[in-house]
Amino acid sequence: MNKIIITGGAGFIGSHVVRRFVTTYPDYEIINLDKLTYAGNLANLQDIEARPNYRFVKGDITDAGFIDNLFATEQPDAIIHLAAESHVDRSISNPIEFVLTNVVGTVNLLNAARKYWEGAYDKHRFYHVSTDEVYGALGDTGMFTEETSYDPHSPYSASKASSDHFVRAYHDTYGLDIVISNCSNNYGSHHFPEKLIPLAIHNIKNNKSVPVYGKGENVRDWLWVVDHARAIDVIFHQAASGQTYNIGGHNEWKNIDLIQLLCSIMDRKLGRPEGESAKLITYVKDRAGHDLRYAIDATKLKHDLGWEPSLQFEEGLEKTVDWYLANEDWLASVTSGNYQQYYEEQYVKR
Ligand code: NAD
Ligand code: TYD
Repeated sequence: MNKIIITGGAGFIGSHVVRRFVTTYPDYEIINLDKLTYAGNLANLQDIEARPNYRFVKGDITDAGFIDNLFATEQPDAIIHLAAESHVDRSISNPIEFVLTNVVGTVNLLNAARKYWEGAYDKHRFYHVSTDEVYGALGDTGMFTEETSYDPHSPYSASKASSDHFVRAYHDTYGLDIVISNCSNNYGSHHFPEKLIPLAIHNIKNNKSVPVYGKGENVRDWLWVVDHARAIDVIFHQAASGQTYNIGGHNEWKNIDLIQLLCSIMDRKLGRPEGESAKLITYVKDRAGHDLRYAIDATKLKHDLGWEPSLQFEEGLEKTVDWYLANEDWLASVTSGNYQQYYEEQYVKR
């Protein structure tokens, strides 16, 4: 399975997955298929774009004709599907975009795979990258396992849950070789600054308020994006057809505790007196339907395939802050244009 289409490869996680496959497997041919929405940025892949085993194709997964044609001309062996609308707040203001890309786009890819791989499903793989948010919200205790029932609450998680169901349906109905992974919140370099960690770094650096939704008591389980990309590599190559794996960092943080930690790292990095950046913390109106807590039990992945997270969170957060402080051009480019308009509407005027 050497010729792989990776969708959403210009985005945050996708760019790390593309980088991992292009650099780890020089004999593979990696095609990055991405529409380049506000969240897709080819600058994320500058370091590997000249490699002979990498190619970029601009295209929209909601365009069934385009996808059909791409499969016909490229004849890929496998697909690793990450392209999606990924931000919960955007899904609350504009759900239909999430239905189109996350549900219809995924079904377009499944249809092409079903058609072009017919008669040889055992030689091809459809890897669907999903989220722990499909499982809904936890109370103070418990963890999501692969057996937890789906209970999505936001339009984003509802669209991802729907796409997961379609992927399983194509396995059960047509026999397509599929694998699905459901991962917890990622952090690291190239993360678009509308999500909590990069937004907070960006705002602290620029002495702008850091919006904390509600009381800041919601809990997320954070995983370094490079560890996620490695998990995808392991699952892609080793998982049995039809399997699902949860991926997580065993690393739960209350939002407010995480932001306090980030503020103290930023104080140190920027030479500010301890406690200075924390003055920027501003409690704002809570997100509608805000899930209280996510926590992943990744025992199955460790037990079956030997994967474990490699990095302690404090170390990973420092690395992440260093990357953002050293890459001001990247931040400037993604905080202009369409994103700037959204940023003004969502954060500056609230
Ligand atoms: P992202 O928003 O950073 O990137 C999404 C990419 O998809 C962008 O490059 C965008 O241009 C592309 N894209 C969007 N619509 C498209 C379309 N119609 N056709 C082609 N390309 C399109 O997202 P991310 O955070 O990197 O997430 C990637 C995947 O991982 C998503 O499927 C998401 O649900 C999943 N996931 C994300 C997290 C997280 O913490 N960010 C956690 C678990 C799972
Ligand atoms: P986010 O990064 O949007 O990821 P997700 O909603 O997919 O978990 O948000 C992470 C947590 O941080 C979530 O509980 C919402 C909260 N949050 C804030 O408090 N302030 C913010 O400005 C943002 C973007 C998120």
